[in-house]
Amino acid sequence: MSPRSKDLPRRSCLSVPGSSEKMMGKAPGIPADMVFLDLEDAVAPREKEASRAKVVEAIRGHEWGDKVLCVRVNDWSTKWTAFDIVEVVGNAGPRLDEIMLPKVESAAQVVAADMLLRQVEVRAGLPVGHIGMEVQIETARGLINVEEICAASPRLETVIFGPADFAASMEMPVLTGGVQIPSYPGDHFHYVFSKILMAGRANGLQVIDGPFLYVRDQDALRDYAARTRTLGYDGKWALHPDQVTVLNDVFSPTQEQFDKAWDIIDAYRDATEGEGKGAVMFGTEMIDEASRKMALKFISRGERAGRVRTPK
Ligand code: GLV
Ligand code: MG
Repeated sequence: MSPRSKDLPRRSCLSVPGSSEKMMGKAPGIPADMVFLDLEDAVAPREKEASRAKVVEAIRGHEWGDKVLCVRVNDWSTKWTAFDIVEVVGNAGPRLDEIMLPKVESAAQVVAADMLLRQVEVRAGLPVGHIGMEVQIETARGLINVEEICAASPRLETVIFGPADFAASMEMPVLTGGVQIPSYPGDHFHYVFSKILMAGRANGLQVIDGPFLYVRDQDALRDYAARTRTLGYDGKWALHPDQVTVLNDVFSPTQEQFDKAWDIIDAYRDATEGEGKGAVMFGTEMIDEASRKMALKFISRGERAGRVRTPK
């Protein structure tokens, strides 16, 4: 677990191809909470090995501010994973916060990456445990094992749903990843979203939704992102800077919610400490200890998004 990045916001997680110096050069100026430089599916096989050095150069050469900075390596079924980790983590220096492991199918795959990271950290002079991990759940086997996967290493910071690969793994008859299927009466991913969310939360992880492929339709993105936001997700991937703006908004509490959360905290404290009551009326609703817990979540998310309570 990277002590710097574990609790930083990840409302918008921008994917940037590790083969493109130009796009990696623009990424620090885009207001995404998190950026991941991709060595996996956004990079052509023949470019993969050459991209490792480009990614290292981008990490060392640009000013990344307080963004969470991650590199997505290739999955364990390829010939690249270990060498991606050795070359990138071994040379990137301390500014790299995490690696993202795609298509994770078992706890053993997380443990393997964890052990390799320890050796690479020691050789590179980084503190052991400096590099955090994000895991993508995007196959049927990964979803079946998600509970063990989320508990497999103290380095884990987030679990991410990968809708495009997941649809392929399930043989869903769709050709566009991560969007609503109009012919399905309901949300075809509802079970998947909930299962991943529970496994992540049970292990103290942030939980992130993957890409939305209609990159030019921001209204449709806003509508679709509201689903995982409502369930409790922390953020979602962005494939384009325009998506970042929408996601930062969707995954931040409104000012009204933020102020109401503070009012609940105050009213509940007055009731418990002043009047010795555990449940009281707050306007037209009844509040109790569970209301206080819900309000605290809004406050911490609001503060992470830079909200300040409106003065009375
Ligand atoms: C992301 O990696 C996806 O497959 O949706
Ligand atoms: Mg994928």
